[in-house]
Amino acid sequence: MSSEVGRTDIAAAFRELGAQPGDILLFHSSLKSMGHVDGGPQTVIDGALDAVAPGGTVAVPTLWYNGKPLERREEDFDLNNSPAWNGLVAETMRQDPRAVRSNHFSHSVSAIGPRAAELADSHGAGRRFPSPWSETAFAEVSPWSKLYQFNALYAFIGCTMNSCTMKHWIESRYAAGLLDRLPEAERDRCRKQLAYERQKAPWCFFDGRAMHRRLAAQGLIRTARLGEAPVFAFRTRPMVDAALRELARDPEKWFSPAFLEWRKTILDLIH
Ligand SMILES: CC(C)(COP(=O)(O)OP(=O)(O)OC[C@H]1O[C@@H](n2cnc3c(N)ncnc32)[C@H](O)[C@@H]1OP(=O)(O)O)[C@@H](O)C(=O)NCCC(=O)NCCS
Repeated sequence: MSSEVGRTDIAAAFRELGAQPGDILLFHSSLKSMGHVDGGPQTVIDGALDAVAPGGTVAVPTLWYNGKPLERREEDFDLNNSPAWNGLVAETMRQDPRAVRSNHFSHSVSAIGPRAAELADSHGAGRRFPSPWSETAFAEVSPWSKLYQFNALYAFIGCTMNSCTMKHWIESRYAAGLLDRLPEAERDRCRKQLAYERQKAPWCFFDGRAMHRRLAAQGLIRTARLGEAPVFAFRTRPMVDAALRELARDPEKWFSPAFLEWRKTILDLIH
């Protein structure tokens, strides 16, 4: 028989993962991984809010752009109506009247709580960073950068680190770190070689599950169970810093031949 999961179970699991009163908590989820959730996706959101009460803020990625530029164009994004493709909890969060959604076509976040507006504000402002989706998705001012600054608790219910959006923020910083070492005259040309279309340009995607194992070995990941689902979480700042160190230490292990080729051209220009 499948498990019956309620709001208190959800709050308890997030607390076991380290959620504290006043915390900032972002999570990715699979609803059905838990078994039957009494009250459905809304219960998951309310349970997460309980875990960080009083004074906490809960965020969920509410992504609209699906990587198909012919199907979904940036100018068609409608902050109030464009649905989230990344699961029923995300779509429910987006429609929650308490939620504030960041205004970004590909990597928006919706959040509830006292710091929700701060988290969602001005998505895309400040310095831009390369990514396959846009150069504003992981900008200096973006919920993703703020999750790092605030050292948010970053959690997963029944899904793996391959669905970790912060992974792409890490990739954006890795690529930018290489570009920053170039003479200014070369930087823009090389940046443009990292185009937005995933199929046609090199990008420094790395394997989330393998990174999970590396980070777990360093004691950075807490695990628990929620109904039938495995759940885990890390604190954003130590996780990001450790992942960037891993990528820098052993690029050949992590990156595709196409990206390593691009990286080599950059290193040749630097030396
Ligand atoms: C893709 C993903 C969402 C699929 O998970 P899922 O559980 O199958 O789908 P959802 O979370 O949307 O929930 C819908 C499912 O829950 C079921 N469901 C409905 N009510 C439910 C309830 N009360 N209790 C439990 N399950 C329920 C639905 O029937 C549906 O299952 P079905 O498709 O077999 O009919 C998940 O695996 C994942 O990867 N989540 C993270 C996504 C993400 O944030 N990606 C970021 C990319 S950078």
